[in-house]
Amino acid sequence: MRISDKAVTARLKELEVELRPGVSLKEKTSLGIGGATDELLLHRFDTIPQVMRLLADEKIPYRFLGGGTNVLIADGELPWVVLHLPATRPGMRIDGNAAYVDASADLGGMVTFCAKHNLGGMEGLIGVPGSVGGALRMNAGAYGTQIGSHVREVELYRASSGEVETVRGNDIRFDYRHTSFAPDDVMLRVKLELPEKPYQEFVAGIRVCNEKRRSSQPLNQKSAGCIFKNPAGGSAGRMIDELKLKGHRVGDAMVSDRHANFFVNAGKATCADMLRLMDDVRGRVRAAYSVELENEVIVWKN
Ligand code: EPU
Repeated sequence: MRISDKAVTARLKELEVELRPGVSLKEKTSLGIGGATDELLLHRFDTIPQVMRLLADEKIPYRFLGGGTNVLIADGELPWVVLHLPATRPGMRIDGNAAYVDASADLGGMVTFCAKHNLGGMEGLIGVPGSVGGALRMNAGAYGTQIGSHVREVELYRASSGEVETVRGNDIRFDYRHTSFAPDDVMLRVKLELPEKPYQEFVAGIRVCNEKRRSSQPLNQKSAGCIFKNPAGGSAGRMIDELKLKGHRVGDAMVSDRHANFFVNAGKATCADMLRLMDDVRGRVRAAYSVELENEVIVWKN
């Protein structure tokens, strides 16, 4: 989708929104898949309500993109613009046991920043790629840690009210890779409360997690992490592996030969290839185990 109306581009400029025309989202996602559209970089939090009102008035559909590490985006010309909070110099501040962090911050960067102030508890998250905002929305987790356990407050833009609101951690449901945020809530900042932990202990903790991750996950290939959620009491990776589907492919979309719940872009995979591979594998798992695998990756279709 392209914004060409001069009045709209002028108003965006006034609101300090940078319009980048015709950006390829392949470059913005860890899967290296995605079509093209205009990208809007929101340089100021305080103008977000006005920007959203402008987009609504002008009937310009949009999607918010965080780190792009857990999303599968459609091919071709996309029917919505993409909004982005720039990740350069995101705010991060410590006060006692509390950390105040902008949603655009890199998740690993935030965990390390807190650790350097002797605040731990999030060691498992260190190798999870993505932004703090994306991690909040999905309740990212690994190796026994999930971000939701530490959240005390979230500042967000609530599309349904058109206002920036602060929501208390107790009023948010954080489940396995699912939260009670509305799909159009925009994460802006978070307050976390973290236990004290000497930096040396943190370093020892992440060494163990990194080793486990390196030995089981295809870290040097293009992926969106795990493609399916684990079913209750089961393991998607183990089931797909047992069906001997490692290396199975549709075009350049391939089941990783390292971890069967990672689907990788082994070359020039398209979204259509990836979706066909997901459907194929889902069908085989259903037939063999009578289990319906649910997507863990977020799919943005046209
Ligand atoms: N397994 C296999 N074959 C495989 C992959 C796994 O047999 O190809 C077996 C393993 O041997 C193990 C079991 O399946 O017995 C579980 O595997 P693993 O420990 O790798 O964990 P997982 O359940 O597949 C989850 C998260 C990961 C997270 C790890 C570590 C989900 C969907 N995945 O993976 O998160 O990094 O635990 O905590 O919950 C992600 O969210 O994108 C992600 C990768």
